[in-house]
Amino acid sequence: MNLPDTMRAAVLGEYKDEIELEVTEIPVPRPGPGQVLLRMLRTNINPSDLSFMHGQYGFRKPLPTVPGFEGSGLVVASGGGLLGRYLRGKRVSTAARPQGSGTFAEYMLADAGSCIPLLNSVSDEQGAALIVNPLTAWAMLNDIVLKGGAKAVVQTAAAGALGRMIQRLGTRLGLRVVNIVRRPEQVAALKQIGAGIVLDSSDAQFESTLRHVAREADATVALDAVSGEMSATLLSNMPANSRVVVYGGLSGEAVPVQTGMLIFGGQQLEGFWLSRWIAGQRGWSMIRLARRIQKMLAGDLRTEVREVVPLSEASRAVRSYQQDMSAGKMLIDCTAA
Ligand SMILES: NC(=O)c1ccc[n+]([C@@H]2O[C@H](COP(=O)([O-])OP(=O)(O)OC[C@H]3O[C@@H](n4cnc5c(N)ncnc54)[C@H](OP(=O)(O)O)[C@@H]3O)[C@@H](O)[C@H]2O)c1
Repeated sequence: MNLPDTMRAAVLGEYKDEIELEVTEIPVPRPGPGQVLLRMLRTNINPSDLSFMHGQYGFRKPLPTVPGFEGSGLVVASGGGLLGRYLRGKRVSTAARPQGSGTFAEYMLADAGSCIPLLNSVSDEQGAALIVNPLTAWAMLNDIVLKGGAKAVVQTAAAGALGRMIQRLGTRLGLRVVNIVRRPEQVAALKQIGAGIVLDSSDAQFESTLRHVAREADATVALDAVSGEMSATLLSNMPANSRVVVYGGLSGEAVPVQTGMLIFGGQQLEGFWLSRWIAGQRGWSMIRLARRIQKMLAGDLRTEVREVVPLSEASRAVRSYQQDMSAGKMLIDCTAA
């Protein structure tokens, strides 16, 4: 295939609160050893992308840079190696390289080893949202909650894309899921997808209800995407010897922990990061898991998509997503003008 010399990409020029992306022409990179070049199809926008563009993620890249951590694409060139040759012509889901350019572009370089070939049954849209949330839902429920021996789990930010996955998959795995949301309409939305227990943190009785429900359900693990005061509230109201696993910082606050909770109450506060979890997995088990996850993308691990917009509207997609995160994901169509 003849590759063009330049491509359009949504470029971030500055890390700041008010995110601005400029769609401009930049060179199409050429793959080196162990890399493949993807013609990007769809790209997803997650809280981690917002946090990166705000300059608050776990790492920064030199500016200007193309943001976007995950997406689907077609492998159009390989930098050599068996895996790269095998992937040529395949539709894949991939994560951007931490040191490289991101998914908000017509083309992107990816490590061949981080590409997951997509089953025919998986759409470009669901393929673009295959890695970050579905794998996290699986990893936390399977490795932390089930392997830890818990029968029930509390989760925060339950009305978001990942929260809905945790509600559906957790129930499928035989767990009772205690969902926490922050607005009454989110209670209704969660009930609509079959959630049995939904607590509203804006309710005056929230803390006492949480204490009662967590004890009654014997929920000894909490998966917390909010952090700050919410993590402290979970630590105070979960049964003794519970684990609060912070995997998101949506509140932007630090956690004000009472030391006695940890010492005398036996509560544990820990973190989860998907990148670290993936690095600890064996190659073959990841391949098997990726196939299994793909088969759940139309069911328990599906992502509700609000709108798919052309690359030229990347900034609008980001703004619109920020304004109402519970309304479904905004995806970018990297093939549309
Ligand atoms: N550690 C990891 O490896 C990892 C991997 C995947 C995802 N995550 C994290 O998982 C979280 C959820 O991701 P997602 O894709 O499901 O997001 P999403 O679909 O955008 O949903 C975010 C949800 O969080 C709620 N929310 C936002 N700010 C909040 C706050 N300050 N207090 C309480 N609720 C708040 C939103 O409610 P409103 O509509 O009311 O704003 C929305 O329901 C994010 O923090 C993300 O970074 C972490």
